[in-house]
Amino acid sequence: MATLGGPGREAGAALLAWYDRHRRRLPWRAAPGERADPYRVWLSEIMLQQTTVAAVKSYYAVFLTRWPTVADLAAAEDGAVMAAWAGLGYYARARNLLACARVVAGGAFPATRESLRALPGVGDYTSAAIAAIAFGEPVPVVDGNVERVVSRLTRLDRPPKTAKRAVEDAVAAMLPADRPGDFAQAMMDLGATICTPRSPACALCPLRPVCAAAAHGDMQDYPVKAPKRARSVWHGVAFVPVRPDGTVLLRRRPARGLLGGMAEVFGSAWGATPQEPLAHAPFAADWTPAGSIAHGFTHAELTVDVYRAQAEADAPAPAGAWWALPADAGLPTVMKKIVTRALAMHDPA
Ligand code: ADE
Ligand code: SF4
Repeated sequence: MATLGGPGREAGAALLAWYDRHRRRLPWRAAPGERADPYRVWLSEIMLQQTTVAAVKSYYAVFLTRWPTVADLAAAEDGAVMAAWAGLGYYARARNLLACARVVAGGAFPATRESLRALPGVGDYTSAAIAAIAFGEPVPVVDGNVERVVSRLTRLDRPPKTAKRAVEDAVAAMLPADRPGDFAQAMMDLGATICTPRSPACALCPLRPVCAAAAHGDMQDYPVKAPKRARSVWHGVAFVPVRPDGTVLLRRRPARGLLGGMAEVFGSAWGATPQEPLAHAPFAADWTPAGSIAHGFTHAELTVDVYRAQAEADAPAPAGAWWALPADAGLPTVMKKIVTRALAMHDPA
């Protein structure tokens, strides 16, 4: 792959000088030039996957107080760790966290990117981050912030996810061999605080002198977006029985898959083929069409035809339960739309 050219070691040094003055003070960070404890780095990086720094801070403090070392965490009850994780989301990460702690607890964290990569829950990004930050391995660390910064620095003409090698090479060309961990975090901080998605503060940026996009004044055009994939079209039907007290019948979705474990109305599965409505009703009743709703998922545009019926006060709850509304606590947006449609028809405003 062709190299990008672009910023080199001097830019890396300028970025580090900026970091020494302006870095974010985060609880898992060591002082500039020092190395943080691998356990703390690993714990913070796992928590930060798909979660913001602001959301992670309090969880990190709780974990570190309750389980100050990886051996303490490895010895914890699964339920205690899952409960302490609750709210951070993506529970597979918590399960991997425990699995990884139990692998490591017998010895120590492996000290290279390559060997870290073999641990549960530790992928390309996380292995590079721990290797650089905790062990000083001079590897490029590329997260979403870094992709954006590099795309602008080099006016990268492709979506950065399709140019991983080129992005890594550009980072490697700036990387100061003596402070790879600080450099990695400096790139992240620059992306989070200066080279932000909507309005980069180029006037304050230490990389301004070597930035191709800033020179062209077209920062907003980078990173180049991947073309939108055509979304599938899904159809479904939904049934909302309403008892005289206003409660509606809901059930829980299977734990895995789309909206896993969330509450839902009764109805058909969603798919490409329009549904034969009444085959999916929870019980026989005077089902009345209440119109339809549309909802966009990442990969599909869904239309649901909604039916409602008045149910008896003692109507049964086949494999579900009668819920009082508003039930927005546990109801995903698409289900809220369906229930609202059914009740709007029920209660003309
Ligand atoms: N996001 C993920 N890891 C980070 C770190 N070490 N510092 C700042 N933001 C991060
Ligand atoms: Fe981002 Fe502007 Fe700095 Fe370039 S000069 S890296 S666009 S903040």
